[in-house]
Amino acid sequence: MRIVAHISDLHFGRDEPAVAEALLRDLRDVGPALVAVSGDLTQRARTGQFRAAREFLDRIPFPQLVVPGNHDIPLYDVIRRFMSPLGRYRRHITPDLQPAWRDGGIAVVGVNTARSATWKNGRISVEQIEHLRGVFCGIPDDIFKVLVAHHPFVPPPGQPSPPLVGRGFRALRAIGECGADLVLAGHLHVGFAVDVSAQKLPISSAMLIVQAGTAISNRHRNEPNTYNVLTIDPPGLTLEVRAFDGQRFERSKSGVYERREGEWRVLGAPGPELRPSVRPAVSPRVAS
Ligand SMILES: [Fe+2]
Ligand SMILES: [Fe+2]
Repeated sequence: MRIVAHISDLHFGRDEPAVAEALLRDLRDVGPALVAVSGDLTQRARTGQFRAAREFLDRIPFPQLVVPGNHDIPLYDVIRRFMSPLGRYRRHITPDLQPAWRDGGIAVVGVNTARSATWKNGRISVEQIEHLRGVFCGIPDDIFKVLVAHHPFVPPPGQPSPPLVGRGFRALRAIGECGADLVLAGHLHVGFAVDVSAQKLPISSAMLIVQAGTAISNRHRNEPNTYNVLTIDPPGLTLEVRAFDGQRFERSKSGVYERREGEWRVLGAPGPELRPSVRPAVSPRVAS
């Protein structure tokens, strides 16, 4: 059994310091084996914002696996955007754009989906897909396999489809054939969990797709600040969404997931719906 905390879309530059302090306290109480950070650490990829993100990560006393998001590439500095899009990210956060972590029965692998050529959408290259296939197929089948990316692979249930990560379905099929169990992503600032089979894709493998909301930024989309705590106990897991209530993070909803009849299903009734106890400070129209 391992606990993985999944935080996303910190957006330093649009962060709420009180929420960040509450998250640090909560993470210390949860005590995860790994903190997976699924991108958008900064708002505009400025040096000061990366320094603030670095200081925040340095205060988390647990191993971390981090991938960049579209906001971690400069938007208005066009020369830097195309000449050194992730230069500051690599300098301040990590030079490793293919991070991997393994502990006991769990392996977690990150992929960079941020691109210079698009304003906010993401993409996975053919080379990255082949890299992921090699990594995932090289991990024994009795290990629980997790992918971390910034951009979403599937839309929120019942909502119009947002732009999804380019070549995402090909990537899912590749890692699914190699026994991937779980995908963690962000970008939408909306949290949800769904089995990949809900998308009616030509993917035969069961994979649970888990999205995280924005952990500490004021770029809400009709949700409070949240993050995910995954207690992975193969072959199943418990997903707990922890939401900021104005003072602290507390359990907002949770579900026990198991693979049944070729797909991930939540057992019993899911917990109470998210309570938007923090009023969104910005319009939900704001792009993530
Ligand atoms: Fe994003
Ligand atoms: Fe974001």
